[in-house]
Amino acid sequence: MASKPNRSIAERMFARKSIAQVQRETANSELKRSLGKWNLLLLGVGCIIGAGIFVRTGSAAALHAGPAVLLSFVVAGIVCAFAGLCYAELSSTLPVSGSAYTYGYTTLGEFVAWTMGVLLLLEYGIAAAVVAVGWGGYVVSLLADFGIVIPPQLTGPTGYTLMRDGVPVLVDGQTVTTIFNLPAFLICIALSLLLILGVSESAKVNNIIVAIKVSVLAAFIVVGGLIVLGNLPELIATNWTPFIPENTGDGEFGVDGIMRAASIVFFAYIGFEAVSTAGQEAKDPAKDMPFGIIGSLVVCTVIYMLVAAIMTLLVPYNTLNVPDPVAVVVDAFGPQWGWLAKIIKIGAIIGLTSVVLVLMYGQTRIFYTMARDGLLPHVFSKVHPKYQTPWINTLLVGLITAMAAGFLDINLLGDATSVGTLAAFAIVCLSVIYLRRAAPDLPRGFKVPFYPVLPILGIASCGYLITTVPGHVLLLFLGYLAVGMVIYFFYGMHFSNLQTGRDQDEGPDMGEFPGPVVDD
Ligand code: ALA
Repeated sequence: MASKPNRSIAERMFARKSIAQVQRETANSELKRSLGKWNLLLLGVGCIIGAGIFVRTGSAAALHAGPAVLLSFVVAGIVCAFAGLCYAELSSTLPVSGSAYTYGYTTLGEFVAWTMGVLLLLEYGIAAAVVAVGWGGYVVSLLADFGIVIPPQLTGPTGYTLMRDGVPVLVDGQTVTTIFNLPAFLICIALSLLLILGVSESAKVNNIIVAIKVSVLAAFIVVGGLIVLGNLPELIATNWTPFIPENTGDGEFGVDGIMRAASIVFFAYIGFEAVSTAGQEAKDPAKDMPFGIIGSLVVCTVIYMLVAAIMTLLVPYNTLNVPDPVAVVVDAFGPQWGWLAKIIKIGAIIGLTSVVLVLMYGQTRIFYTMARDGLLPHVFSKVHPKYQTPWINTLLVGLITAMAAGFLDINLLGDATSVGTLAAFAIVCLSVIYLRRAAPDLPRGFKVPFYPVLPILGIASCGYLITTVPGHVLLLFLGYLAVGMVIYFFYGMHFSNLQTGRDQDEGPDMGEFPGPVVDD
């Protein structure tokens, strides 16, 4: 095909895929419309609950918000609701299966789509690393219950002093410096191999895993709740007074700290947009998608607030900066609840495994779609002849996440994920505004209420939470974006199908998004 060399750089950057084109490209993936509104809600809850509540809540409370981490959950939930409503409008307007990457390509153009791809690597690939580290924390803790001790040097990121309850762990009288997080590394490699073999979650398996995750948290809430109710006045006096600890510095406690913690626990909500990407499989997308998105956010906010309330009431918040905070709190239930601690750890491990799998799956499909669009080299869309999966791409995703999980600190990884996702959400809100202006007559199954106030609030609130993240993370993020831009100008811009006039690369359509494949 002839290339189109005479276009200006700006024309190239803002080249858009037409809706008809995206529909054509996804036409060979006619999916059954089998998901009702409750399935969608469960799909959302399945993708949402993970390391955010099982791990990150602990450090958010211990280091930034204290008991007021409850309010951080409300703030983060509201920010996600703004973005969620925008996702719902886009998914009901653009009848394409796909992630925010595809929405970007059809609305704001190729450069924004590319940027979205760069951000989604944080939202999926790096998020998978965070959850893998959380998985490692619970595995190490469970194994220790059975007397199996992994050398502590191999349970954390490179160069960190191993801490427990806010004090350094001593082995033979010496502090321990961690070298590498072996369990987190291994789970990423193992799951990428499973993905290469074509293992992805079916809707049924997803429902079972959601049931396990929710049951474990429900058991925690019921047992912990009863213990709390029996001693409420004393617990409030000892652990909730003051409810908002006094500010002790930038992002530490006070209102500042609540906002900083909101950007941390924001991680706990990532995944709700998976519902929006199931648009082609929803029975009645216009009604069911908003129900699924907002419903899963509300359910999770309630669960998170209850869990956080019990955690901070039962133990002093400053003891929660540990890899397995939920288990630490169950230990405080008393020795008679030792069996429950083990069950909760096992439930957390199963739940976190599925989140790592779904996030890695999503990342491989985003790379796959970008490669089919010519924005990434063809090798990313190369499908294994026997397993019919993008195996090189999957191996690479496995290695990236494994290295990140093995060597880097969970707080850094978590912040990077939050910043990338917040930026992606802001672009989604912007896309809604753009599309309302550019194509006002396009039929919309669902419209964001109070337009344009809500999308604008979405952009502003995502932007604000980004500013609460530490400066060094923001600098790293800007550097990462800059490298992404350079790659676009040297590669993507020249080889994308839109620029060269090629059709999408041949290859099976695998859907673009994460989320359980509904095939059983
Ligand atoms: N929301 C997901 C989690 O908390 C990413 O693990």
